[in-house]
Amino acid sequence: MVATTALLRDLVAGWRRDGLSVGLVPTMGALHAGHLSLVRAAAVENERVVVSIFVNPLQFGPGEDFARYPRDLGGDLEALDGMGVGAVFAPRLEEMYPSGATTRVRVGELDEVLEGARRPGHFEGVATVVTKLFWAAQPDRAYFGQKDAQQAALVTRLAEDLLTGISIRVCPIVREPDGLALSSRNAYLSAAERKAALVLSRALSRANEACLAGEEDPGRLRPILQRELAAEPLAEVDYAELVDPADFRSPGRLAVLAARFGSTRLIDNHLLGVRFETSPSG
Ligand code: PAF
Repeated sequence: MVATTALLRDLVAGWRRDGLSVGLVPTMGALHAGHLSLVRAAAVENERVVVSIFVNPLQFGPGEDFARYPRDLGGDLEALDGMGVGAVFAPRLEEMYPSGATTRVRVGELDEVLEGARRPGHFEGVATVVTKLFWAAQPDRAYFGQKDAQQAALVTRLAEDLLTGISIRVCPIVREPDGLALSSRNAYLSAAERKAALVLSRALSRANEACLAGEEDPGRLRPILQRELAAEPLAEVDYAELVDPADFRSPGRLAVLAARFGSTRLIDNHLLGVRFETSPSG
């Protein structure tokens, strides 16, 4: 395990001198099969893989779950054991935000809608920490999950805009066999809330069936999502939209959902017209 950017840079510089390619998988820990699928993808495409584990305070708003966000470094290291990871970068807070650090990265436009509008400052926090991680690890490729679709689009924009030369790879959502998209926040759900949360994948799947049957008008597909969600009394819906994955603003085929189940806010998405798959999480 590496805890400082200086050590990480030395390690990566050595790999580079040996002509080895480097893949970065940024995470906030509490690793599940979704994260591990990113690590696997990185290991296939790169000779060395760095997994970062850092719960980034800057991307949590006041009243969000920073304090209770699941942390299990021991379990995470165990999960990564045997996966061919070259380095786990687990910095302390002061390493990523030394006192006096005021620089922030803002992507603009993509961070103003949906998740960005509901969680002011969230994407600025993500963009800032991801930029720092890019500098620290200097990877050839970096891996993000489609589960956080807007984040993945924003990071892709950031990597291009800042001329990083880093190729952003977006890997498919991993779902439980019953359809629930894997998320570290699923750990907060009570049994009843977990059952209720299946409404997200059910709504996406219903809208997808309609799309595959020939319905392409977002104005007709959106009510399918809304009807399904409204039928679940434990779901407090934040948004259910069909947007263009390029800007998350204009109407399109990417169905994006956010809803609260008790105190847990979950998001999910699916590009309508593409087969909806649940995958065993093992
Ligand atoms: O998706 C996450 O876990 C985080 O937003 C990320 C990309 C690791 C930045 O803290």
